[in-house]
Amino acid sequence: MLVYSIAISLLATISIALPLDKDYKINSNDITLKNNDFDWSRPTFNDDAIIETALQVLQNIDNSTLTDSCTKCKSRLLYGKALALSRPDLVPSIYEQWCLNTGNYSASTCATNYHRNTADNSSTGSNFADMLSLINPLSIDAEYWCHYKADKQCKVPKLPEDLSISHLWNDTKPEKAYHPPTVGNETMKVLHISDFHIELDYTVGAEANCTASMCCTPHSKTKKGALTANRSSVDDLYTALFEGSYYDLDGTFHQGEKITALNNISVPATHFGYYECDAPEVLINSSLHSIADFQRENNITFDFAIFTGDLVDHDEIAYTSYEQCVEAESIIFRDIKNTFDQMPIYPVLGNHDTFPYGQLAPYKSGFQAKFDWNADLLAELWMDYDWIDWDQAQIAKTHYTGYSINTKSGLKVIAFNSNAWYQKNEYAYINTVEDPDYFGTFEFLVEELLDAEANDQKVWLIFHIPISQTMMPPQAKLFTDLVERFSPYTIAHIFNGHTHRDEFQILYSNNNGTKESKLEDEVINVAYITQAVTPWVENNPAWRYYEIDTTSFQVMNTFNYYTKLNETFASNDEPVWEFEYNPRDAYEIDWPETSPLNATYWHRVYESIASNASVLQQYEGFAKRWSPYTDDCISTESCNWDICYVSSFTDDEYETCMKTYNYTAAY
Ligand SMILES: *[C@@H]1O[C@H](CO)[C@@H](O)[C@H](O)[C@H]1NC(C)=O
Ligand SMILES: *[C@@H]1O[C@H](CO)[C@@H](O)[C@H](O)[C@H]1NC(C)=O
Ligand SMILES: *[C@@H]1O[C@H](CO)[C@@H](O)[C@H](O)[C@H]1NC(C)=O
Ligand SMILES: *[C@@H]1O[C@H](CO)[C@@H](O)[C@H](O)[C@H]1NC(C)=O
Ligand SMILES: *[C@@H]1O[C@H](CO)[C@@H](O)[C@H](O)[C@H]1NC(C)=O
Ligand SMILES: *[C@@H]1O[C@H](CO)[C@@H](O)[C@H](O)[C@H]1NC(C)=O
Ligand SMILES: *[C@@H]1O[C@H](CO)[C@@H](O)[C@H](O)[C@H]1NC(C)=O
Ligand SMILES: *[C@@H]1O[C@H](CO)[C@@H](O)[C@H](O)[C@H]1NC(C)=O
Ligand SMILES: *[C@@H]1O[C@H](CO)[C@@H](O)[C@H](O)[C@H]1NC(C)=O
Ligand SMILES: *[C@@H]1O[C@H](CO)[C@@H](O)[C@H](O)[C@H]1NC(C)=O
Ligand SMILES: *[C@@H]1O[C@H](CO)[C@@H](O)[C@H](O)[C@H]1NC(C)=O
Ligand SMILES: *[C@@H]1O[C@H](CO)[C@@H](O)[C@H](O)[C@H]1NC(C)=O
Repeated sequence: MLVYSIAISLLATISIALPLDKDYKINSNDITLKNNDFDWSRPTFNDDAIIETALQVLQNIDNSTLTDSCTKCKSRLLYGKALALSRPDLVPSIYEQWCLNTGNYSASTCATNYHRNTADNSSTGSNFADMLSLINPLSIDAEYWCHYKADKQCKVPKLPEDLSISHLWNDTKPEKAYHPPTVGNETMKVLHISDFHIELDYTVGAEANCTASMCCTPHSKTKKGALTANRSSVDDLYTALFEGSYYDLDGTFHQGEKITALNNISVPATHFGYYECDAPEVLINSSLHSIADFQRENNITFDFAIFTGDLVDHDEIAYTSYEQCVEAESIIFRDIKNTFDQMPIYPVLGNHDTFPYGQLAPYKSGFQAKFDWNADLLAELWMDYDWIDWDQAQIAKTHYTGYSINTKSGLKVIAFNSNAWYQKNEYAYINTVEDPDYFGTFEFLVEELLDAEANDQKVWLIFHIPISQTMMPPQAKLFTDLVERFSPYTIAHIFNGHTHRDEFQILYSNNNGTKESKLEDEVINVAYITQAVTPWVENNPAWRYYEIDTTSFQVMNTFNYYTKLNETFASNDEPVWEFEYNPRDAYEIDWPETSPLNATYWHRVYESIASNASVLQQYEGFAKRWSPYTDDCISTESCNWDICYVSSFTDDEYETCMKTYNYTAAY
């Protein structure tokens, strides 16, 4: 049995045994294979021949019976690296074709993952080639890639024990930093909005109950077997078919023309949106105007707002273009600015707010310039709108749209782009473990936090994706170390969006997944995860504001507002936005009026959720804003995962909890 070895000169003498039946050798610049068939230096070895050869090698790897799926996946990366170093331009065609040849994936999946980048479709083949040229295919980074980007072909590797970023701070945590901040006696109000996901091609009358992909668009397809009568005449459920409804610049609503002809639609998209669709602009403006109206009617002014990301919709790659990304970002920030005028908004970008989807390259990689257009566009736009100043805009341009703001009230808000650590980002697999701050985000955060700590200033960290959700495990671990170092004294709170659910997640210092390890005196901090305005998927649109203590900058209470979207399906009226709940009244925890809703408070809520099915039902109802799709948590076990979810901060903690209690995941 012959086992052959491929050595890549950039990796010095590292070699890997590939289970192949041809004898060949590859080095970085010119690939010379002993077997004449694979001699790439031959003059006749044109692009087609290279592609054909490469596909043959990849197929040989797949067909090998000598090894496991993890080694095969890493072998494909190793071979791919050799290709990417010499012919990066051919990598997308080779891997897209390889993907199709396996017969394991749909054409659209192969195109999404491997088709070369174009401005028209959100495919990541060129980003894959960039990643290949820099990844160490023999490291655990490659195992992470094979797990998260290649169907779990490798197991999640164990975290290296020496993983640390403590060199970034003084290793002695000062004594004061162990103390919770003093609470004052004055409050301010801060708005939190998130996840707008504008559907630019939202079409009134299109199929709203569609097959996989995005509904309410011209390309939505009716489910097989669904009743396709003219629903507006069959019953009165979906009669609000007004095409072209909009709000003008003054906030006045203009109803569009009623459409009457529907062709084989089972559920027609009505003008304010549907539970299986992203938000039409008119719904986004309705939510923004409801906030402006609320301020006016109650004589309240929000000191500022945070926006925790995701402007672009969830449509498939064929309908997601560079142009739409820029358009979605520009339209929504314009609408926000128009509605709130002088109120400062501190935004972050989400995983959808880039092109292609989820991608972001670090400076050190040399590929970062591919994403400058986005940081430049938004830094300039936010500066034009007076939300950040010139200096902060320069920081935003060089920190992937992250920045740090000292608000008028003395709070520091630090915003960063969580795509750096996102499992779907190809560039997150370069130096993941060797240089875990490859993006420089930790250095930026620590510098700002040390400065705040020295000045006894309080900090909010705002970013899109909660740490527990599809973040690279090394960076999730290091982020929790950072939160522990700067809590409770400096980091007042963490705010996220992304899940579209109204949730919270507690960080404990010794969480091993069991409830015995989640101790009240070991709580460190809590992440507030806010509701979405988009109804996708099966939620009522919502927003909230916080009452904030102006000394500790901790949340004293949260006020949640929502609209029952189904009430707009057969109505000529605009959505009605109403008060939903505040946690102090809803959860009835015995908690002093003068104490903030800090991690200790949320620990008590967790205990109540974990021990009382009706409280669990209430939590889940709030999570989805009591949409018609809210699960029954009392007579079924379908909400048990919430118990693990709220008491975990990393995916690892959540998974261990789920295994310990045999719960079934909802997502
Ligand atoms: C490899 O396997 C595929 C099916 O997965 C098969 O079509 C092909 O002929 C095999 N190739 C070789 C060289 O054995
Ligand atoms: C394709 O699917 C088969 C059957 O599940 C699996 O054995 C094989 O490893 C897969 N190949 C790739 C390249 O994903
Ligand atoms: C670290 O903190 C301690 C205690 O505050 C201080 O004495 C020391 O000078 C600091 N060291 C550095 C390198 O900043
Ligand atoms: C709030 O606290 C300040 C300083 O601690 C104090 O001077 C003031 O009287 C307090 N105000 C009220 C309404 O309790
Ligand atoms: C959507 O379609 C499915 C499958 O045909 C059907 O079971 C369901 O009732 C439909 N939903 C609505 C709201 O009509
Ligand atoms: C659907 O119903 C509406 C209202 O009853 C009617 O005006 C329209 O002609 C019908 N469309 C079709 C295609 O039957
Ligand atoms: C609105 O609030 C401001 C300051 O909080 C106060 O000065 C003003 O009198 C209030 N106006 C009304 C109409 O209540
Ligand atoms: C890319 O987008 C174009 C139009 O924007 C579309 O015609 C084409 O099918 C898309 N390609 C893929 C692979 O989705
Ligand atoms: C988890 O922590 C609890 C409390 O410290 C301890 O009693 C238990 O043995 C630990 N379980 C595991 C599996 O480590
Ligand atoms: C939360 O506030 C309570 C009451 O002020 C305090 O006892 C507790 O230590 C605080 N918890 C944290 C994690 O700061
Ligand atoms: C909307 O959904 C809620 C929750 O399921 C339900 O209570 C309400 O009756 C529905 N309203 C309409 C008009 O269908
Ligand atoms: C979970 O399932 C395993 C195996 O089925 C069983 O041994 C264990 O006792 C269960 N744990 C709980 C908490 O139900």
